[in-house]
Amino acid sequence: MSKGSKGPSGTGGGRGGGSGRGPGRGPGRGSSGVRGRNVKEKLRTARGRKISSTRWLQRQLSDPYVAEAKRLGYRSRAAFKLVQMDERYQLLKPGSRVVDLGAAPGGWTQVAVERVGEGGRVVGLDISEMEPVPGAETLRGDFLEEDCLQRLTALLGGDPEAGVADAVLSDMAAPATGHRPTDHLRIVALAEAALDFAEAVLSPGGCFVAKVLQGGSEPELLKKLRLSFRKVHHVKPPASRADSAELYVVATGFRGRSAEDAAGPEG
Ligand SMILES: C[S@@+](CC[C@H](N)C(=O)[O-])C[C@H]1O[C@@H](n2cnc3c(N)ncnc32)[C@H](O)[C@@H]1O
Repeated sequence: MSKGSKGPSGTGGGRGGGSGRGPGRGPGRGSSGVRGRNVKEKLRTARGRKISSTRWLQRQLSDPYVAEAKRLGYRSRAAFKLVQMDERYQLLKPGSRVVDLGAAPGGWTQVAVERVGEGGRVVGLDISEMEPVPGAETLRGDFLEEDCLQRLTALLGGDPEAGVADAVLSDMAAPATGHRPTDHLRIVALAEAALDFAEAVLSPGGCFVAKVLQGGSEPELLKKLRLSFRKVHHVKPPASRADSAELYVVATGFRGRSAEDAAGPEG
């Protein structure tokens, strides 16, 4: 799939979106994509602005996903990455219990709320302040801190042994340093922590999505994923910018904790 061939299809009506132009009004699953806007908007006040921010602004103005996110009331263009991965792998089902890690500003959370419907549950966590998303619970904290993990687990409640989530999604990314190896290590550390959490809370059959970076190897992460899940894919959703090294691992069919235990600590 190339960018634009299947653009930001929207979502079905859901619980969220209290405002009249919220995402609940978007087109349904599998609906037509973004119409390329062919925007050649010139920046009127580029003078005096830093070149990098001018470039950023120019890119935003000509990006069909930014326009479509605005039209549908999504808080981020990133929402379409989840829409596209969900359409390909059917990750979010009506009634699903979803944990969204690195949720701010809330695009993925909005999509998850719509897709799991009234019978589902969505918990979004971010280290940054996040406006509440109607239909979702939100928590603020650093996922890498023990205290945050405990608060999140307590919020999920239930019997962790039996599984308290059907999907664990992580779009977490620390601010880029520009030093590629450092950025890669940091993102893999976040993905590994998210996977440990997923293995502790998922129900059998559950799924896991995490952001990683292209070009680096993450053999430990892949080894663990293949042990715990029936299928593991690397995905670059069309909405992910072509010039970004970002990539997602999508793992489906969680085998359950007993399979993992049986494999032993050495796997
Ligand atoms: C790319 S943004 C997520 C965008 C979001 N999926 C959306 O659709 O709006 C990455 C997020 O990860 C969060 N993040 C990074 N490190 C984190 C950590 N240690 N704990 C919690 N959140 C973290 C950042 O604050 C940021 O909001």
